[in-house]
Amino acid sequence: MGAQALAHQAPPPLLDDIEEVLITEQQIRDRIAELGTQISADYAGKDPLLIGVLRGVFIFMADLVRAIAIPIEVDFIGITRYGPSTQTQGIVRLTKDLEINMQQRHVLFVEDIIDTGLSLRYILNTLQARQPASLRICTLFNKPRKRLFELDIAYTGFELPDRFVVGYGLDYEEGYRNLPFVGVLQEEAITRRRLPPNTQT
Ligand code: IMP
Ligand code: MG
Repeated sequence: MGAQALAHQAPPPLLDDIEEVLITEQQIRDRIAELGTQISADYAGKDPLLIGVLRGVFIFMADLVRAIAIPIEVDFIGITRYGPSTQTQGIVRLTKDLEINMQQRHVLFVEDIIDTGLSLRYILNTLQARQPASLRICTLFNKPRKRLFELDIAYTGFELPDRFVVGYGLDYEEGYRNLPFVGVLQEEAITRRRLPPNTQT
């Protein structure tokens, strides 16, 4: 194989990069059905507004809204976070605002994963200032071990150990979001991903 061909060699299939599956596609599907039933009952007659943060939540949001049997509305915000997650003084900036006015609405804030809680604390402060009728949190995955703030989470899909996971919307350097389950990456995949795409080793 020539150098040119090598440089454009396709990376191995995504599945080969996974060391361990933590939550299967079926487990996710079953749990979301339960969450949807619970949310439908709790918010009946309230016409709730579901708000998610792009981009990690897009897959969970898509499945969650279809598990909800009452009228709802959906909107998204975007944020950028600077500095390592362990820094209590990390800076969060809003990069995309809501389209829908949330004043006097029953807002359910939907997250893919909560780790330190830093991003969420900033967002909650921002949203609370807009005077919703109520504001509660729903997260598919919760990693409580590194939590820096006390958070009242109304709906949790799964508690996860303090490991970095990918799949079902969660990324490692923008990759792996499209895996239908949640798993832990092989060390080798992490090293490879850190190299520029055309680097030959
Ligand atoms: P927090 O501000 O520390 O709670 O971080 C929450 C954000 O960090 C999530 O919305 C994810 O974007 C990212 N994150 C935290 N843990 C993981 C993980 O295990 N895999 C992928 N992304 C993660
Ligand atoms: Mg990410």
